[in-house]
Amino acid sequence: MILHDEQAKLFTLHTRNTTYQMKVGQYGVLLHTYYGPRLRGGDLAYLIQYADRGFSPAPPEAGDGRTFSLDTVPQEYSASGVGDFRQPSIRAELADGSQVVDLRYAGCELRHGKYALDGMPAFYAGEGAADTLVIELEDPVSQLRVELLYGVLEEYDLITRAVRVVNGGSCSVRLLQVSSLCLDFQRADLDLIMFDGRHTMERCPSRAPLRPGVQGAGSVRGMSSHQHNPFVVLCEPGAGEDNGGCWGAMLLYSGGFQAEVERDQFDNSRLVMGIQPRQFCWTLEPGEAFTAPEAAMVYAHNGLTAMSRQLHRAIRERLIRPPQGGMRHPVLINSWEAAYYDFDTEKLVELARASAELGVDLFVLDDGWFGRRDSDRRGLGDWWVNEEKLPGGLEALAERIGELGMELGIWIEPEMVSEDSQLYRDHPDWVLAAPGRAPTRGRSQLVLDFSRKEVRDHIYESLRPVLSCPGLTYVKWDMNRSLTDVWSAALPPQRQGEVLHRYVLGVYELLERLRRDYSHILIEGCAGGGGRFDGGMLYYTPQIWCSDNTDAMDRLRIQYGTSFGYPACAVGAHVSAVPNEQTGRSVPLETRGVAAMSGTFGYEMDLGRCTEEEKEIVRRQIRAFRERRELLQTGDYYRLTSPFEAGPYTAWQQVSADRRQALVSVVTGAVRANAPFALLRLKGLDPDLDYRVNGGEELYPGDALMAAGYPLPSLPGDYQAFQLHLEAERG
Ligand code: GLA
Repeated sequence: MILHDEQAKLFTLHTRNTTYQMKVGQYGVLLHTYYGPRLRGGDLAYLIQYADRGFSPAPPEAGDGRTFSLDTVPQEYSASGVGDFRQPSIRAELADGSQVVDLRYAGCELRHGKYALDGMPAFYAGEGAADTLVIELEDPVSQLRVELLYGVLEEYDLITRAVRVVNGGSCSVRLLQVSSLCLDFQRADLDLIMFDGRHTMERCPSRAPLRPGVQGAGSVRGMSSHQHNPFVVLCEPGAGEDNGGCWGAMLLYSGGFQAEVERDQFDNSRLVMGIQPRQFCWTLEPGEAFTAPEAAMVYAHNGLTAMSRQLHRAIRERLIRPPQGGMRHPVLINSWEAAYYDFDTEKLVELARASAELGVDLFVLDDGWFGRRDSDRRGLGDWWVNEEKLPGGLEALAERIGELGMELGIWIEPEMVSEDSQLYRDHPDWVLAAPGRAPTRGRSQLVLDFSRKEVRDHIYESLRPVLSCPGLTYVKWDMNRSLTDVWSAALPPQRQGEVLHRYVLGVYELLERLRRDYSHILIEGCAGGGGRFDGGMLYYTPQIWCSDNTDAMDRLRIQYGTSFGYPACAVGAHVSAVPNEQTGRSVPLETRGVAAMSGTFGYEMDLGRCTEEEKEIVRRQIRAFRERRELLQTGDYYRLTSPFEAGPYTAWQQVSADRRQALVSVVTGAVRANAPFALLRLKGLDPDLDYRVNGGEELYPGDALMAAGYPLPSLPGDYQAFQLHLEAERG
């Protein structure tokens, strides 16, 4: 619900459990008054105090007044160059060379339904399910107009934001920064949680109290990156899974980003999130507009679990767009770790046959099927089938796979090119490369200039015959290097600062086109595993390969970190062979299955090599996943313990919406002799119901399971796993 009190110049956004408020203050400055638990209403501007603070200048309209300074008041969208020395939300260079942008309130508009962003990802909601508020600010001198867009998804406790900048003046303007979100707090007793890592170890949470000054992280790699994630949490210092106020902010963007929090001299804090300003410079001619990507905000008064669940539900139901016919969750076998580049039709069919016999639905042919791609040094860009490996092309393979009762999936990496490829020989100027410099290589490959339409069109045309193959229902869209040498042959020198963002828009455009023209195909995102695991990609690719690290014990950490912002149904997770490719560790098959089941589930190994006993385990795993898929992927998610803490086990739990069913997964670490008994306290159950565990005779009261716990069995050996399936007794 959006309330606009015209007299008080007050905007109050209510969701079911939260309230967000802004007010047009003195001199038309848009103040931020509140974001937190839902309030009855009222004007919260009383919270803002004014004083004459040294070195904090006042706007010219204040005359002799010295108590109003942009340096000290909480603002909705911080300007630059006019007395606020904290983090700006927008910076621009005007035609006269000045970098002053002074934003004042100019008007507003309320609309039913949720705004959409042309060519960019955004949460969606129908007329009755959301409202939009547009607040217009203007720099009176340059006539630069800033439209702040707010989407209120009341039932989801979600507020989205986006920013549109319009050059209403008569001279061109160079935008140096346009952030999507600015969130001021009149407090500094907050912890910042970010999700950091590296290739094969993504999204590990790091938490620290705010210290004076600027802290944060971002990506300058042209992708949201393995190293940092465009999702951050600010929370009260004592906040835990079940207590304390938590504010989550997510940028729906797959390129470089910046997320920074500044704790200022007076113990106020400001979070600013948006496109990475480094290497960004966008020229706006008179009348032109620039739109910054969407950011989403959630608040939960009762801890991190509740905050995560709000996001999970909103992403599942209002961001992810299932392929035609509804969301499918095929159990897949991926050829990568089983065959790498070394395969032919017979080998693949054998791999598929062994998998089909165990119940796998979908066979995904990973890298190596096209051009002269017999290693990662050549062939990218030549999207024609290598008929030496696959005589009769994909159609022949799809037919054989179809005979086994399976569907076919395929790997592509459309944004990249190998120098040893026909595409590069034909179009050497289609890569990102600065004049006179040989571009750096990443995984021996170069980056195609996706800011150019003709490049995207060519890739689309060359992928068409592949995607049109009957029986092909899945595509894995990969991206395997960071962007460097950012320069486009298609843009003039003064527009080179636009390349990185235009590249991301280009990726979105091609993805949207594939979605539209091949709407039955499920696209899985991937960037060397989880290098582009973000809300932006999820709008186009309902699931994302979470990490190239398939070691179950490491996956517990990666999936735990990922779960703070993203739902299990989006997390690509497979069982792979042991010793693990990335870590050399051997973890029992049961455990690998339990870890992969809290994701999209599949296998990445030669199932034909399994012993009969292992095959039986695989059959059981697939059956269990199918039976519990709904619960696993859409159930309320509870992190029961953290794999980053030195406890004897890691546990998590999914609970059905009616709380009649739950699945608890437990994975132990290195075994200790004569270990203490463990009682695991469960969460989210109905205290008034009694539960049966794994179909056993005994009934356990829900209140006791939560307050006192459930005794965990002691299992011999390292890295053991088990699941407890709880079902409420009918009654
Ligand atoms: C990336 C992906 C892997 C695999 C290889 C193929 O590393 O993350 O899953 O597809 O590329 O080259």
